[in-house]
Amino acid sequence: FRIAVLISGGGTNLQAIIDAVAAGDIPGRIERVICNRPGAGGLTRAEHAGIDTEVLDHRAYADRERYDAVLAERLEAIRPDLVVLAGFMRILTDGFVTRFMGRLINIHPSLLPAYRGLHTHQRAIDAGETRHGCSVHYVIPELDAGPVIAQAAVPIHPGDTAERLQDRVQAMEHRLYPEVVRWIAEGRVVLRSGRVWLDDE
Ligand code: GRF
Repeated sequence: FRIAVLISGGGTNLQAIIDAVAAGDIPGRIERVICNRPGAGGLTRAEHAGIDTEVLDHRAYADRERYDAVLAERLEAIRPDLVVLAGFMRILTDGFVTRFMGRLINIHPSLLPAYRGLHTHQRAIDAGETRHGCSVHYVIPELDAGPVIAQAAVPIHPGDTAERLQDRVQAMEHRLYPEVVRWIAEGRVVLRSGRVWLDDE
């Protein structure tokens, strides 16, 4: 089971998946990590794990279409069964998403469908929520709107800052994301007519 991971930053979710593969929990292999930011911390994590890395700097491309076309080409060369977005901070074009639909997943820091988009932790605090969390979902052209595979919730405590809440949510992300990648690699996640079914045998 061939996995490609797309990152932009520190790569703590990437690390969690690397660790799960190394522990034998995910029956697959990370074939390559592709990053749009030169020098991103996640690249070092991949290199330490002996994983092939590639930097595709978006600033070298005239527009989103051209960038995504090259990204798609580079990805297809890896023949991935699954493309994992792990803090890849770019909106992907409809063409790209359509091409990889069904094998493209993302982790979003909210209990979707609540709080799509950015700054979810602060927005949840400001709204007086008592719960927040993270969702792993299939990616569709509409942002943060694809079918949810799994979610994990955490409490919001009185006086929480966005930073503290983010740490709490991220700890859950690092448990949830490798677990979902494992289910998919095991063939236990079925996407049918835009709905997700889990086979828990
Ligand atoms: C994660 O918190 C995830 O929810 C969001 O981007 C962040 C990436 O963090 N999509 P990291 O690079 O995995 O540390």
